[in-house]
Amino acid sequence: MRIVGILLAAIMLAAPAANAASPIVIKYSHVVAENTPKGQSANKFKELVEQRLPGKVVVEVFPNSQLFDDDKVMEAMLLGDVQLAAPSLSKFDSYTKKLQVFDLPFIFDNIEAVDKFQQGPIGQKLLNSMEDKGIVGLGYIHNGMKQLSAHSPLRVPEDAAGKKFRIQASDVLQAQFEALKAVPVKKPFSEVFTLLQTKAIDGQENSWSNIYSQKFYEVQEYITESDHGALDYMVVSTDEFWNGLPDDIRKEVKAALDESIAYGNKIAADLNQADKQRIIDSGRSQVIELTPEQRAKWVEVMKPVWKKFEKDIGKDVIDAAAATSGAS
Ligand code: SIN
Repeated sequence: MRIVGILLAAIMLAAPAANAASPIVIKYSHVVAENTPKGQSANKFKELVEQRLPGKVVVEVFPNSQLFDDDKVMEAMLLGDVQLAAPSLSKFDSYTKKLQVFDLPFIFDNIEAVDKFQQGPIGQKLLNSMEDKGIVGLGYIHNGMKQLSAHSPLRVPEDAAGKKFRIQASDVLQAQFEALKAVPVKKPFSEVFTLLQTKAIDGQENSWSNIYSQKFYEVQEYITESDHGALDYMVVSTDEFWNGLPDDIRKEVKAALDESIAYGNKIAADLNQADKQRIIDSGRSQVIELTPEQRAKWVEVMKPVWKKFEKDIGKDVIDAAAATSGAS
């Protein structure tokens, strides 16, 4: 009788520990500031997941390359060191060539066109383009159109010739700057400010929100409003982690992710416009608007890049993207 009592007491003491399984931890690593569309979307994701799944799932967001630089995060994710990342679409070159479509210069007129393509059948199919590498695409987050910044004014393509530009790790972006007879240098996002400040490079391309939040405008005298390309993201996880989640948990996490993406996308345009205005108001950098003739020259020099990548990307994919803007 005494032994049964001891056993019962032991079971009762052990029970809470057995029921209160430790929460699933989702580490979400990204490289931008929190006051950007992706930063805001990631924080919203944490808030929503922890509201929907209290005690069951904990989200840890690491902004500003705190945990991994953009050249390391995919490897880290495949090793299980983070569970979620949202690299720019330019940073998947070593996993798939299909996403290079997003880097083609002047293929999208604006982020609405990018969105139309992403939400269409080809854009949705591209979410699965890294399946063979064990990577699942869960959705697209917008940032904005890219602008060109430099230490000297860039009005026509010849102004960029011979200048060093930092680019993301993308062969399309490399070809784009080579078409300008410029020198592209692939470097992680976290190094750009110092490279510009020390004049190790002459310029870079980015969205208004990144130029503002990373203070690039403080070390770049000129920003040309070129809108020549899109800066957008794919939220990715590994097949092993994502499909290993219990069905009910995965469903809730996905719903929270969709909601957080919609939130980020809703504020992206306003945030970029507000940051552009903050840069103008700072007086630190002169914003150059292109005349239609000047813009046509940039298009003429950069657009031949499309042809070089047609085989890898697929003509059907390029045509579908171009059709969203009538740029074909
Ligand atoms: C990002 O927005 O995630 C980084 C973009 C860049 O590397 O320029």
